[in-house]
Amino acid sequence: MTRSTTWPTDGMSYGGDYNPDQWSPETWEEDIRLMTEARVNIVTLGVFSWGNYEPEEGRFEFEWLDTVFDLLHAAGISVDLATPTAAPPIWLHQKHPEILPVTREGKRYWQGGRLGWCASTPIWRTHALRIAEVLAARYGDHPALKMWHVSNELGGGNRTCFCDESAAHFRRWLVDKYSTIDALNQAWGTAFWGHRYVDFAQVLPPRDSETVPNPGLQLDFDRFSSAALLEHFEAEAAVLRAATPHLPVTTNFMVSTRPSVADYARWAPRMDVLANDHYTIGEDPAREQELAMSADRMRGMRLGQPWLLMEHSSSAVNWQPRNRAKVPGELVRNSLSHVARGSDGALFFQWRASSAGAEQFHSAMVPHAGTRSKVWADVCELGRNLDALRDVVGTLVEPARVALLIDEEAFWAWKSGPKPVNDEPIWDTGRNLHRALFDAGVLTDVVPPWVDLDRYRLVIVPSLFLASDDTARALAEFAADGGHVVVTHLSGIVDPTNRVRTGGYPGAFKDMLGVMSEEFFPLLAGQSVTLDNGWKADGWTERLHADDAEIIASYADGDLAGHPAVTRRAIGDGAAGGSTAGTAWYVSTTLGRAALADLVDRLLAESGVAASIVVPRGVEAVRRIGDTGSFVFLLNHGADAVRIDTVAGHDLLGDRAVDRGFELAGGACAVVRE
Ligand code: GLA
Repeated sequence: MTRSTTWPTDGMSYGGDYNPDQWSPETWEEDIRLMTEARVNIVTLGVFSWGNYEPEEGRFEFEWLDTVFDLLHAAGISVDLATPTAAPPIWLHQKHPEILPVTREGKRYWQGGRLGWCASTPIWRTHALRIAEVLAARYGDHPALKMWHVSNELGGGNRTCFCDESAAHFRRWLVDKYSTIDALNQAWGTAFWGHRYVDFAQVLPPRDSETVPNPGLQLDFDRFSSAALLEHFEAEAAVLRAATPHLPVTTNFMVSTRPSVADYARWAPRMDVLANDHYTIGEDPAREQELAMSADRMRGMRLGQPWLLMEHSSSAVNWQPRNRAKVPGELVRNSLSHVARGSDGALFFQWRASSAGAEQFHSAMVPHAGTRSKVWADVCELGRNLDALRDVVGTLVEPARVALLIDEEAFWAWKSGPKPVNDEPIWDTGRNLHRALFDAGVLTDVVPPWVDLDRYRLVIVPSLFLASDDTARALAEFAADGGHVVVTHLSGIVDPTNRVRTGGYPGAFKDMLGVMSEEFFPLLAGQSVTLDNGWKADGWTERLHADDAEIIASYADGDLAGHPAVTRRAIGDGAAGGSTAGTAWYVSTTLGRAALADLVDRLLAESGVAASIVVPRGVEAVRRIGDTGSFVFLLNHGADAVRIDTVAGHDLLGDRAVDRGFELAGGACAVVRE
């Protein structure tokens, strides 16, 4: 169990976005001194610097960047060099305003932001590849250069474009996908409202109309938009890989527990190093779990490979309604949680807090106050910690026995048109189940539905609104082989064309589950129901028939009183590999937190899965294993000291021997080599 990717640093990667072009050369000297003090070993350079090294077309001012490269190299700091395509220079927007994205309403953006480009515009592509070539030629051989960072957060501003170039590109993508216009009509169900096309030339992106667009069209446009961005990534990456085949190429994803701007799980195989930007949300009462689930989602994109936390914040951001600062120690716990869950490093946006510009009130590793600050103390502590974790590098997270299936396409399909409830974020279903597992101390792989399920005992299918026949088949086989599956409401409702599967819900899974739901009964705001086993639920209920399943709980009150709410079907005899018979559970309602905890306990007991490290509640515990040893990460998110009775060895952070029964102070972390 050791990583196989070319990695940009020897130890854990530590550093952040570095924007020296915002500062004077005197500050650069100080930066290098402070980076050394904090044990920074990599910086991401030049993300938004295009206009600073090519202020006019063809006139380059690279001297400052040359100097910074040399300074970093002399200090032993690696460079992750960005192509600067996240911020086209002013001259390019003035010369070619047609590269700016057009909104659904038909408004073309103006210069002055970032990511101001449409992925389908040829002249944009020409300029983007030209600047990538210039950079590769100038810095490709520089010994400090260890990785390429294509653009920045692709889609984080230019997720979609509705211009004519995009429309033409979309039509080419559709011809590729459907071949004939009849196939497209069939897939989108264009008989509805008589929106039948006779020629691909008639198809437009879902531009603003007086009602909502066709959901099939909308979903395909989302897929296309993600594919167009990936195509842009691939084009830049091809230039870089041709010039420097030995260097890894990455781009930073924006994976959280919510829908993403792009279909990252389908992008993941194209990355040499998988990287993510993650920011906690101040208002979120379960921030640690949100972080953990996002990290589990990153790991799940390429199981068995480490990934890299490319950006997070040292303290407050500036883009939430109210921007909460992190308390002392929180920065370290956040970073180590990502590392525990498979990141081989922790990087920040950004090294030094800007004094001007749109992000002048965003935290950084060096805050406005300078080094006399809690942030700086935490930054230095994290540097020491990551240094102490040298031997953890390349180890892998202990295999999880529970999988939770997430597919971006299912989220997009849910958002593609009016639904029975239009204020229900279905992604909360997965988040709530992950939270129940997190509280139970059980590690979960958050994976796309096409992964091999054999390695798991329990698979959770949380409101997987869109599901393919392949997914349905894989789950049925998994259960027939003795696996345990739980499917929740709003799963398997539409097929990949976004058409409803008729004959009863949850269409794709009803045979496996032995149930059939004839009608949705969404509850109104403030309504709740009680089940006959005492569980409480709100939000969603269904009129369900348990044709071939045991009823675990029925609705005790409300419109559906007496009808089944939660069911369980025993499948097979385990002869095909499992030691016990498999089961397939269906949960037709949105259970409250206590009920979910109870349900998860039952599912874990039935599938024989337990926390692999038993620790007091409020402590996060994850193990990484590899050729260099076995390491248990222990993060105490609570304020009080706790006793750890199940782990012993050498705590690498505190550099002390620990026996079973050792004390972990409130807010503290330990990484114990067992
Ligand atoms: C993203 C971007 C950074 C910065 C931060 C602010 O992660 O990549 O450039 O804007 O957000 O939180």
